[in-house]
Amino acid sequence: MNPLDALLQSRLAQGPIAAAEVMALGLYHPEHGYYRRTMSDGGGPWGFDGKDYYTALDLGSLLGQTLALRLEAAWEWLGRPARFMALEPGAGRGWLGRDVLNAVSGSFAEALVYVHRDDNPAARRAAEMALAPFLATNRARFAAESDPLESFTGAVFSNELLDALPAQPWRWEGERWTREVLTATGPEWQAADPGEAGAWFTSQTDGLEPRDGSIWCEVLPSVVHELALPLEAGLFLTVDYGESADRLLAKGADLRRFKAHSVDGKWHEDLGEADLTADVDFTRLASLLEQEGLSNLSHMELSKWIRIHAPLDEWGASWMDLPDAERKLRTENLLQLTLPGLMGSRFRVLEGWKEK
Ligand SMILES: C[S@@+](CC[C@H](N)C(=O)[O-])C[C@H]1O[C@@H](n2cnc3c(N)ncnc32)[C@H](O)[C@@H]1O
Repeated sequence: MNPLDALLQSRLAQGPIAAAEVMALGLYHPEHGYYRRTMSDGGGPWGFDGKDYYTALDLGSLLGQTLALRLEAAWEWLGRPARFMALEPGAGRGWLGRDVLNAVSGSFAEALVYVHRDDNPAARRAAEMALAPFLATNRARFAAESDPLESFTGAVFSNELLDALPAQPWRWEGERWTREVLTATGPEWQAADPGEAGAWFTSQTDGLEPRDGSIWCEVLPSVVHELALPLEAGLFLTVDYGESADRLLAKGADLRRFKAHSVDGKWHEDLGEADLTADVDFTRLASLLEQEGLSNLSHMELSKWIRIHAPLDEWGASWMDLPDAERKLRTENLLQLTLPGLMGSRFRVLEGWKEK
C-alpha cells in the first residue's frame, strides 16, 4: 500500500474525511504529496508517454508568445517602467516563463524580470534547466513560497495553479446540501451545512435544481490576497480549467483524477501518485480580485483570448520559412489552442488590472 493510502486508512478509522482534505493530502503531503515528492525517475509527472498529464506548455510556445504580448501591453500601459517584475506562482517547470523570456525583445526585455514561485521539488529541478540562460543573466530568479512578497510593479500570471488548490464538491439534493466525503467503505455524499459556500452558490443561480452542484475552494481568498496585495500596479492574469459560477452549478462540478493520460472521478485512489484537479469558479475569482482593488476584470475562453491578442496571420506567414517539422509543430500548437473542443475551449483566461 502506498504511504498516503496507509495514512488515509488510519485516519478513516476515526470517521469520514472531506474530499478537499483528501485532495490536500494527495497533492501537498510534505513528503509523499504528488506536488511535493521526488519521483523515482528524478523527473516529473508532466509530458506524454509514460506520464500523467500535459499542459498547454507541452504543446509549444504559442501561449508564452501571446502572454509576452499581454505583458508588454501592461508595461506600455504602466508608462514603460525601467523594471517590470512578472511573478509566476505555481510556475512548475518554468516553461511558460522561458517561452515569455524567449519571445520578448528591446526595451521591454531589458525591463522584464521573471520570478518563478513553486516549492514543487521536481518542477524546480526542471525549471533550473529551462531557465538556465536567464538565471545566469539575472533576467529570472526563484522565490520560495514562504518568502514574503515585496511590493512590485508588473504582473502576476499563472497557468493551472488554481485548479490544483484543494476544493470541496457540494451537491444540492432538492431540500438540503450534501458534500462528498471519503468513508472506510468508499466515497459518499453526506448532508452538511455549506455555510459561506451555500450562500455563494445560491446567489449565483435563478433556482437550484436537484443534482446541481459545484466546488468550493476554501483557500482561494487567501491565495488571491497574497498574490494581489504586493502588485502595486499592473496586470493579473490567470489561465485555468473552469467556468463561470452558474455554469459550474448546472454542470455539477466535481473533482477529477488524471493518471496516465486518462481522466476519471476516482479522486480517492492512488493518493500521491495521481494528479487531482477541480474547476476554477471564475465568477468568484473575479469577485475576489475586485475586492483586492483590481478593475476591468474579464474572462474568456483561451481560444478566444489567443485569437484576440495574437497576430496569427503575421505569425502564420513567418512559419512558412521554418523547416517542415517545426512548421508542423507550430500549426498543431495553434490548432490545439484555437479549435473548438480542444484545449483552447477547456481553459479560460482571466485578466484584471491594478492602477497606480
Ligand atoms: C498543475 S501544476 C501547474 C504547473 C505549471 N504552471 C504548468 O502549467 O505546467 C500546479 C503547480 O502549482 C504549485 N502550487 C500549488 N499551490 C501553490 C502556491 N500557493 N504557490 C505556488 N505554487 C503552488 C504546485 O506545486 C504545482 O507545481
